[in-house]
Amino acid sequence: MIVVYQEQLILLCMKMIEDILTKKDLTRQDLILLLQAKGDDRRKLFERSSQVKKEVVGNKAYFRGLIEFSNICSKDCLYCGIRKSNEKVFRYEATDEEILEACDFAYRNRFASVVLQSGELSSPAFTKRVASLLKQIKKLSDNGLGITLSCGEQTRETYALWRESGAHRYLLRIESSDPGLYYKIHPQDERHSFEKRLEALSLLRETGYQVGTGVMIGLPFQTMESLVNDLVFFKEQDIDMCGMGPYIEHEDTPLYKYRGELMPKQERFDLTLNMIASLRLLMPDINMVAATALQAIDPAGREKALAVGANVIMPNLTPCEYRKEYQLYEDKPCLDEDAELCRNCLEARVELAGSEIGYGEWGDSKHYFTRMGL
Ligand code: 5AD
Ligand code: FES
Repeated sequence: MIVVYQEQLILLCMKMIEDILTKKDLTRQDLILLLQAKGDDRRKLFERSSQVKKEVVGNKAYFRGLIEFSNICSKDCLYCGIRKSNEKVFRYEATDEEILEACDFAYRNRFASVVLQSGELSSPAFTKRVASLLKQIKKLSDNGLGITLSCGEQTRETYALWRESGAHRYLLRIESSDPGLYYKIHPQDERHSFEKRLEALSLLRETGYQVGTGVMIGLPFQTMESLVNDLVFFKEQDIDMCGMGPYIEHEDTPLYKYRGELMPKQERFDLTLNMIASLRLLMPDINMVAATALQAIDPAGREKALAVGANVIMPNLTPCEYRKEYQLYEDKPCLDEDAELCRNCLEARVELAGSEIGYGEWGDSKHYFTRMGL
């Protein structure tokens, strides 16, 4: 009797997943089920998200050469290894020559785009320096390199200046769309205001960028409902790009004390893949990055993300001597590989995972062009 009942229940769940996977509009209830999908259901979710990705944005993975050009940061996020108060970190600023050389490598290797990422600074000198770098990168590549910035919250004027100087995409993770959780993982002060972060996302949109945001997955105090709300937030914000990765504890940060309460790393990894696959169904035409943090848990992590819905990958081009000083989290991969090694390694991995690399193509967010009516 019980056996029959269990079989019926399993059949009902399978039916439910199949229904959800063919629906046009996903409800919060559907999303909860997708995030919790395991075994056969999970396999079906991944099959569908992979199919949607191929149909809508194609099977190419686009490279964005990542240059972490400075770890000097004015913020104190409670999870981040390069937070201002971490005195163990040697603070660096790459020279213009080093940055331009990395961009030149990207250009010569037909990466087509670079991401300039740094800690968050807001001084006139920093603003000016980034603007000048953007112009130099455009010049050295004959306008060929696409540029994404990831330099935190700035004023409208700064965003506009950087946009005019050559950047056309910007990444600013909301980290969590739930203000309650946001303030558990950030200090509660003016410098870490949830409202200001939201406003920065609006400013980026108004100043004409392709806007990317994202969250960390497996944070202490995070619930499934909170993650579902993150997905709904992305949809409501009508974002163009998304980067989601597992939270990985860092010894020299205040959040480390909650390490005993976290879900195991493998579960954080699995949940991240479910989030990526679900977002591909919810927002089929956005760009989604296979976050490097996935590789800190599973050596094939980024390729697995590509297989279930991501379509962007960020080979690290940061000069090797600086890499160990840009450890946002523990076990960050590629600390010793130089740009050439990273490229070869990723090329092999991406191809093994069944994707093609979009060499020489910007691979901009399809969603951006649609929302702009282009
Ligand atoms: N684990 C995972 N990701 C982290 N980041 C910062 N610290 C960590 C951590 N401990 C992410 C944040 C930030 C991005 C640059 O790195 O989401 O936006
Ligand atoms: Fe905020 Fe590093 S201090 S993400």
